Amino acid sequence: MNITCTVNNKSIEAHVEPNKLLVDFLREDLGLTGTKNPLDFGQTGACTVLLDGQAVKSSMMLAVQADGKAIITVEGLSDDQELNNLQSRFEAFHAVQCGYCTPAALLVLTELLDRVAQPTEQEVREQLDSVLCRCTGFQNIVLAALDAAKGQQ
Ligand code: FES
Repeated sequence: MNITCTVNNKSIEAHVEPNKLLVDFLREDLGLTGTKNPLDFGQTGACTVLLDGQAVKSSMMLAVQADGKAIITVEGLSDDQELNNLQSRFEAFHAVQCGYCTPAALLVLTELLDRVAQPTEQEVREQLDSVLCRCTGFQNIVLAALDAAKGQQ
């Protein structure tokens, strides 16, 4: 099946098999390997991308379901080589250890910060429910998100 979509603000036309997962399309066909595929049926959330601004698990949907949609992966969070506000807060607060969950954490928090300019700590923690970080204990991720929110006042 042919699909058209935008990926990181770039128009894409592609032929995909009807049973191809969105995560495989992104990683294998487009080379966007920031989206992880832990083969865990979405339990870690590491496959998260934004689909029309909503955080979705790309290993739980088919590529054909992205037809006509706008996808943002971690590679698309910054337009240039500079870290964006949230990414730079992750760096400043040491919110990254192995980095495996980081693309997903950045994307779910981007969704939250787009929706809620000044989220509470509780809202940040609830937003991170869908992402499993095995390294950080989440504390520095939460601090980074709250500081990023201050930066977008
Ligand atoms: Fe290692 Fe989150 S930094 S899983």
